[in-house]
Amino acid sequence: MKLRRWRRPVRFGSLRTTTPVSDRWGWDRGTPIDRRYIDAFLDEHRRDIRGHVLEIRDRRYTERFGSGVVQSDVLDVDATNADATIVADLTATEGLPENRFDCFILAQTLQYIYDLEAAVAGAKRLLRPGGVVLATVPAVSRVARSAGVVGDYWRLTTASCGRLFSDAFGEKHVDVRAYGNVLTGVAFLMGLAAEDLADDELRKDDDFFPVLIAVRASKP
Ligand SMILES: C[S@@+](CC[C@H](N)C(=O)[O-])C[C@H]1O[C@@H](n2cnc3c(N)ncnc32)[C@H](O)[C@@H]1O
Repeated sequence: MKLRRWRRPVRFGSLRTTTPVSDRWGWDRGTPIDRRYIDAFLDEHRRDIRGHVLEIRDRRYTERFGSGVVQSDVLDVDATNADATIVADLTATEGLPENRFDCFILAQTLQYIYDLEAAVAGAKRLLRPGGVVLATVPAVSRVARSAGVVGDYWRLTTASCGRLFSDAFGEKHVDVRAYGNVLTGVAFLMGLAAEDLADDELRKDDDFFPVLIAVRASKP
């Protein structure tokens, strides 16, 4: 005899829509959920953000989380970025400064770079021995309008980030952490903000439903 299994009723409410609640990652509602996780990661690693610090596109995280920063630089491949002190492609490894930085904040950039191995090799080259890269990448995210459907390449996992950075830096120099859960993933895709959720909902991390992957790797 076949047993009939009843589905638990689900009320989608205002989430029963094929367009997101916000088309701007939730910036128009509050703090985007991935940014809350990036803040938590960088807050945890404040002690690494010191000395000569490099960041991509702007100095927002260097200024918020750095202490004992003696010099701050900004790298961008985009030559029109007025904040960039170094205009360079992270994948053009040979052209990058070598052994220069104590810390490299590489937030939300690797997903836009097709050649991930070259970009991680570039990050390593930029660091002094003992220097640290703090990188974040999406595990779940909408496609960025700024990059377009042809420029937003990757969503990563704990495993792929672990391999990618361990191959370059050595396994014992790499820590990988996943933030998020199924609720925050759905909310992030819908464009809800961190303020739409409760703190305990945001703080629950489920390794099987990551939203953001964060990597700390130190150059031997
Ligand atoms: C979304 S921003 C990420 C950094 C920003 N601080 C943040 O937290 O969102 C992505 C930046 O990466 C830059 N970028 C993309 N590909 C690059 C590459 N191959 N080398 C260097 N910068 C690159 C883009 O021009 C852009 O300024």
